[in-house]
Amino acid sequence: MALIEIVTWPTPVLLAPARPVENIDGAFVKLVEDMRETMYAAPGLGLAAVQVGVDRRFFVYDVSEDKERPEFKVLVNPQITAREGTVISENEGCLSVPECRADVTRSARVTVEGADLDGKPVRLDAEDLLALVMQHEIDHLDGKLFLDHLSTLKREFIKRKLKKRIRGL
Ligand code: NI
Repeated sequence: MALIEIVTWPTPVLLAPARPVENIDGAFVKLVEDMRETMYAAPGLGLAAVQVGVDRRFFVYDVSEDKERPEFKVLVNPQITAREGTVISENEGCLSVPECRADVTRSARVTVEGADLDGKPVRLDAEDLLALVMQHEIDHLDGKLFLDHLSTLKREFIKRKLKKRIRGL
């Protein structure tokens, strides 16, 4: 297993819709293992393939509260099929938007359909933190970042901060 470099804004793979996963083979399973290591090392609650430079529609996540008992999951070709309510996702952040956080308006509950690592259909009725993680990660697969949910003013402020950070590296 190996850690993979997480790409950050404005890397193009983060800004365009990703392609569907067509087959789950040994290389795919190996990539998922590396993404697992990378997510826990970061640490993050979720990591989309595009964040490690892979143009495919899947992500890994773990929203378990007890870090002694990890609940590692993979969701392949996920889609939000229903939304309900509105909630503020407080102080949301993203490994690809380092050192920046903002409140984001999101749906309170979502239904997500996709597949697991065996290709078996998965359907999740998510609320609370899981619903927020689903929306954040599925946004990644559509080429969107939490920045895209902010007002132009706030978004431009964060982009200026990111550009300064890049110049300073
Ligand atoms: Ni993110």
